[in-house]
Parts: sequence; structure tokens; C-alpha cells
Amino acid sequence: MCGIMGYVGPRPAAPILVDGLRRLEYRGYDSAGIAVANGTIAVRKAEGKLDRLVEVLAEDPVEGTVGIGHTRWATHGPPSDRNAHPHADPSGAIVVVHNGIIENFHRLRDELAAEGAEFASETDSEVLAHLIARYYDGDLVAAVRRAAAVAEGAYALVAMAEQEPGRIVAIRRISPLVVGLGDGENFLASDIPALLHRTRDFLVVEDGELVVVEAEAVRLETIEGATVDRTPFRAEWDAEQAEKGGYDHFMAKEIHEQPTVITETLGGRLDGHRVHLEDVRLSEDDLRKIDTIWITACGTALHAGLVGREVFRRLLRIPTRVEYAHEFRYQEPLVRPGDLAVAISQSGETADTLAAARLARGLGARVLAITNVVGSTLSRDADDVLYTRAGPEISVASTKAYTAMLVAEYLLALLLGTARGDLDAEAADRLARGLEHLPDLVDRTLRREDEAVAAARRLVDADDVYFIGRGLDHAVAMEGSLKLKEISYLHSEAMPAGELKHGTLALVTEGVPVVVVATQRHLYDKTLSAVQEVKARGAFVVAVAYDADDEIDRFADVVLRIPDGEDLLAPVTAIVPLQLLAYHVARLRGHDIDQPRNLAKSVTVE
Ligand code: F6R
Repeated sequence: MCGIMGYVGPRPAAPILVDGLRRLEYRGYDSAGIAVANGTIAVRKAEGKLDRLVEVLAEDPVEGTVGIGHTRWATHGPPSDRNAHPHADPSGAIVVVHNGIIENFHRLRDELAAEGAEFASETDSEVLAHLIARYYDGDLVAAVRRAAAVAEGAYALVAMAEQEPGRIVAIRRISPLVVGLGDGENFLASDIPALLHRTRDFLVVEDGELVVVEAEAVRLETIEGATVDRTPFRAEWDAEQAEKGGYDHFMAKEIHEQPTVITETLGGRLDGHRVHLEDVRLSEDDLRKIDTIWITACGTALHAGLVGREVFRRLLRIPTRVEYAHEFRYQEPLVRPGDLAVAISQSGETADTLAAARLARGLGARVLAITNVVGSTLSRDADDVLYTRAGPEISVASTKAYTAMLVAEYLLALLLGTARGDLDAEAADRLARGLEHLPDLVDRTLRREDEAVAAARRLVDADDVYFIGRGLDHAVAMEGSLKLKEISYLHSEAMPAGELKHGTLALVTEGVPVVVVATQRHLYDKTLSAVQEVKARGAFVVAVAYDADDEIDRFADVVLRIPDGEDLLAPVTAIVPLQLLAYHVARLRGHDIDQPRNLAKSVTVE
């Protein structure tokens, strides 16, 4: 996720672009840059927060009234001056900013390189500048259209050409883009909040559309060239609401971003059932040597690891352990040379996870990091890195980073399984197709938020809540319970459904809420036995179950439904109603949802 801006009008473009980027910084902040047309196109960019760009501009200002800007959250290529946007073709006559992923960029880059192109960055975005330049013969719209026809993926692109100084041209393929309509000037941005102090009149560019923005005119068409006639709308949000994309809290916004985050995390990495993970370079020899996989992490990342353990065990048949990073580092763990250590961390800066990864490495393991932050300490320490592409997560309670971690683990299992021969083509295909369906399944789950609201009303005054499940459902129960406790401050515990009768059942009395996750068909009857045990003690049962499950209504007081799907992938959808449940309970209790008491987003101390 990155933020993009554009301006065409009579005023100096640079301050307007920088101001817009500041409002988009929540979408990414590892580097930033602008390009302004004034005869030639001048580009200024810098690694680091936006203030670094401001310093660069103070030393070396740019003049001109048409320009584009970008604030980056790295996906291809670490944060650096040269990977910062805007990117230009070698002549500097075509300049672009881009948000999203060009899935076939390796192939496009190879083709361009074979024709002699030299690249100044490691990004997928630079390929777009080269492509547009290749097709350009004085008509930027036509060149952008041709580039869009070959560049696959989910992205938004804004381009300008030295020869056409009065306009910018943009396209939207899934990634968001809006036009802000001014008086004798017009703006482009990734979202409405970036422009709300400039105008209230907007045109939303829809998926598959191209827009030409000039000072006095805005022309919208499809990428293929058909005319689009859309009436502008007036935004009535206040500034704070706008920053949260119209949601009341970042947590709600991030929960609802999950279909996009999953799409982005998969983007360009699946070709049939073949997986391409550019920063994972395990050789055949490395794969053969793996005796045990050690997953180390904390909190929500650890819960993602619980899902990974089950997935690796089932698909790879490799013994897999999940260890709290803070325990692992003092355990003298029995790691053997050649083992694979998978360190999972959204921030890539959690002190315990870093220490655990270093310990595993010292014992001879190869360290693979799953992290959301390109250039984080963990990504630099690791031998291999699998980036989630969740974009910045602002809410302390992690949601979208968790689902992105799960998707990363499935991709890793698919990669290792096919490379080692543990997974036959049919099983691999099935998993790959299932992964591609996930954004839709999560989207459909999110549409049933009213069910979570109704359940939240029943839980809001509880003292204790118990979460149960078996196998993968237990992993989801752990994460659902953590979400609830950290923002609602209700006491909550999760355990395997079979463990309940060994002690905790003593606490289940009339009206005590028990949340059961029941998606694993091969364990379903066993899970139901536990439900019957709590029901017999008067528990108030909330179940997470598939749409097709018509048995569960006989046992549960409230059912949170998810669409039918593959059991192995169910954690990705099953967590969604539990995130919503936690959110709505906390909301009803009037808590500070985005910044719960005593907690920090990143725990960089032991
Ligand atoms: C819970 C939460 C924490 C983090 C944990 C690890 O919602 O966010 O439990 O998951 O502190 O953080 P990372 O993933 O940055 O290592």
C-alpha cells in the first residue's frame, strides 16, 4: 500500500503535493518523492519519512504547477533513495508513480532488458515508466493504455510526459484513486481524506478506468477507451472520520481492508500452483536438510504460527514447533544445523522475536522471516524474507497483518511442498485455487457484520468468555480470545475443546459465554461434544460455522456464519467474525479501541 497524489492548476505544485502526501502517510512512509513539470520534469525523492523529502526540497526546490507525488510502503526493493518514487524512463521524459503490484514485472523487466533497457531501481514500478516510454509517440493516453494492456496486477498508476506538460494521466486497476475537483485546478489522490481540505467535490475512478486530469477539465474513460459519464459527488465527512476512511476506528478500517490485503499478499506470487517468492532462496540442498521447522513469534504473530504449524505438518509432513520467542531464547532449544526457523513479526522489530531468530541462526538454522515491514531489522537479519503486504497497521490490535501472515504461510507451504515433492499437483492446485478465492470469502464474511453486532450485545456485560476449538479452530480461538481481551478488557481464555473438561469446565455456569469455532469437518463431532458439555452447564454458546452447517443451530445460541470453503484455509475467514465481535464489544463498552490501555504497537524491549 502506498499513497499517490497529483496536481494540475495555476499554483506551485510542490507544496500541494507534499501536503497531500502528509495526509497519505498512513499508507506508507519509508520513502517519498515528487515530480514537477517545468520545461523538463524535475524529480526529488528521499528515503525516510516525508520530512526528509521536505529537507531535500528546501535545498533543491522545484518550480512548476503540474506534478505527481508518492509516499511508499516498500513491496519490491527495500526502502532507499533509488527505490523511492517517482520513477522515470532513462530519458526522464516519462515519469510515473504507482501503488500496488505489477504481477508480471519479472517477465516485463527481462523483455525490456533484452532490448537494452537499464534500470535505476529494483522496483516493479520502474517497468511502467519504461513501458510507457516505449509506446510513447506524443500521446500519453495512448501510451498509458498500451502499457496497461500488458502490465498485470492490482495497481493504480499516475503518469506525466515532458511533451504534454498540462496534464496527468492515471489508471485504476483495483487500487484506489479519486479525482478532487477544484476551481481552475484539479487533484488526484489515493483517497478522499488527502484532499478534503481542498475540495468537497470528487469523482471516484472505478476499477478498469483511465482518467485524464487537466486544470480546466477531467476526462474519464475505460482503460480500453469507452467514454464514462459519472456525476461527481460531494463528501460530507469530517477530517478525522476521513482519515479513517469513513470508519470510526482504524481497527474497523483495517478489518475491512482484509480482502485487498489478501489480494496484495498473493499478488504476482501464484502461477497455477507454482509459487514465486522473490526473497526466499532456499536451495534443494537447504530443503533436504530441514529436519524440524521452528516457528518463533509473539502475540498475534504467534497465533498465526499456530496455523502455520498445522499447515506445515499436514502438507509437508515436517515436524513443526511453535515457540514463544521470549521462551525459546532461554530454552537451549534443540535446533539442528539445517533446520528452518520461521520468525513471524508484523513490525519486524519485536525484541524477543529478533533474539530468537538470532539464536536459531547461531545454532545453524536457516532463518526465514515473515514480516510486513520491508527493511525492518528482522528482514535484514534473516536469510530469506516473505513479505506480507498489509500496508501500515495503525490499530494496536492486529487484524489485517494476521490474515496476511496466514496467507504468507500457505504460500510458503505451497512453495516448500511442491519443491520437496510432498505435495502432488492436484493438492497444490486445490490449495492455490482456494487461496485465490479467499478475498471473495472474506468480503462475503464482512458483509455479515450485523451478526457480530448482535452477538456483541449479548457479550458486553460478561465477566469471562471462553473460546474453544480443535486443530486449526483452536488456533483461531486463541487469536479471537486475544482480540477480545486486548480491546474489551473482558477476561477471556482459549483452549482446545477437548481440554475444557480437564479443569476449566468448573468455571462454566449459567450464562457464561463460550465461543466455539467449528470449521474443521473431520473434528466436527468431537467439537460438538464439547459444546454439549458447556450447554449442559447453561453456557451461552456463540459458534463460528459454515453456511452449510445446519446442525449447529441446535446447540448454539448465536451463529456467526462464514461461507463454505476449504477447511485448511478456514482460519482466514473464521477469524473475521471474531475480530468484528471483539471490535463491537469494545465499542459498546466505550473503550479506546485503537490504543488499548497498557499496550504498544511494537514491543522493542525484552
Ligand atoms: C495483538 C498484537 C500483538 C503483536 C505482538 C507481536 O493484537 O498486535 O500481540 O502481535 O506484539 O508483534 P509483531 O508482529 O510486530 O512482532
